Amino acid sequence: MKASQTIAEAAPKGGQALSRDRIAELLTEARARTLLLVSPLSDDDLARQHDPLMSPIVWDLGHIAEFEDLWLRQNLTGASEYRDIRGMFDPFENPRATRAQLPLPSRSECLDLLASVRRAVLEGLEEVDLTADDPLLREGFVFRMVLQHEYQHNETILQTLQLKQGEPYSAPRGFRTPERGSRVEGMARFPGGTVRIGTDDRTAAYDNEREEHEVVLDPFEIDQSPVTNGDFAAFIDADGYGRSELWSEAGWRWREENPEIEAPKYWFRAEGGWHYRIMDRTEPVAPHRPVCHVCYFEAEAYARHVGKRLPTEKEWEAAATWDPERGLRRRFPWGDAPPGPRYANLDQLAFGSAPVGAYPLNTSPIGCYGMIGDVWEWTSSDFRPYPGYETFPYPEYSEVFFGDEYKVLRGGSWATRPGAIRSTFRNWDYPIRRQIFAGLRCARDV
Ligand code: AVJ
Ligand code: FE
Repeated sequence: MKASQTIAEAAPKGGQALSRDRIAELLTEARARTLLLVSPLSDDDLARQHDPLMSPIVWDLGHIAEFEDLWLRQNLTGASEYRDIRGMFDPFENPRATRAQLPLPSRSECLDLLASVRRAVLEGLEEVDLTADDPLLREGFVFRMVLQHEYQHNETILQTLQLKQGEPYSAPRGFRTPERGSRVEGMARFPGGTVRIGTDDRTAAYDNEREEHEVVLDPFEIDQSPVTNGDFAAFIDADGYGRSELWSEAGWRWREENPEIEAPKYWFRAEGGWHYRIMDRTEPVAPHRPVCHVCYFEAEAYARHVGKRLPTEKEWEAAATWDPERGLRRRFPWGDAPPGPRYANLDQLAFGSAPVGAYPLNTSPIGCYGMIGDVWEWTSSDFRPYPGYETFPYPEYSEVFFGDEYKVLRGGSWATRPGAIRSTFRNWDYPIRRQIFAGLRCARDV
């Protein structure tokens, strides 16, 4: 196999080639980040279950290794490092709440496992025919899938670390976002009409993002910026949590089952008003940053409080990418360039959201700010397959979750790695979940 063989870069239009060396580089970079995130943790921090919603972090680590072994080793070369303990890291065999009872490997065993799988993968990479006519390999898909899997578990680990028991997580802050933004107020108008949603990309996109298809949208308006902490505090002050008329039926049931909730998760009252904790820092709630850690029901109630509603995911995607004047679609809100620190607050190491308006380039054609980065945004859409959907390469990524139990979230958060977000990317979770880094923006009919 020649080292000069290349496969197309994540960006279908990005044009950059991805070589064997580049694959190795990306895998190495992903691993360095995973190890950085867990480096401040003790053995006990890694082994224990910090919250019933989350896995012990050693499970995430073992699962990252297992997934890589399965897809980059067993399915490409037939070899496997550890078929024997595969079942332990199968998320379906072992739901999160019971993972602490598994005979999980210790921290050092886990690190050894990650390293030995990786060594074997890098060796095996030399033998893989990157140009083979194999749907997994075509355009490097399987490598990007495994990379994204590790990136996505990084975000999961950060949710766990925000819930951490014992000493707060000593966050390895790596950069700061701009401190100030010129706040964008008001709503952008989308004129309606035919837009294209989803993608045919097979280099990086997940099955649930395909196929690209046309939809006809009615005209709508959508907030130019995400709902801020200040906005949300006004909802609390207006007794938003106490007024049943603002909540959906299911939302009000959730209210009644959780009467102690009176603010976003991690907010608490202290002298001088609301404060919040993020990892090892507590600070006064910053009024101009996007609100985070609200569940779908809270998002829905907030929207109703201001006489609006949540956007559908199609409206969200159109508002993020579609240029109605020219009938053209951008790859990202700011244009076709891949995500980077000039454009959006992604990539974890800021450990928090930036003030709204801090990234002026992060504006969509119709004028929506911050659709990628800072916080995931709840949409009103259930997680369902697009027309023409085909499961690829395995049903447990998307297919088993389709239905009306999950709501779609869009746009990624500060805790999302840039390689794991696209304008077409669809995340999903239960409408009661608050530990995810999620906020909202509102829309309304015109
Ligand atoms: C897309 C975030 C819902 O964490 O359940 C990780 C991502 N899938 N391993 C999840 C995922 C398999 C998934 N979400
Ligand atoms: Fe996983």
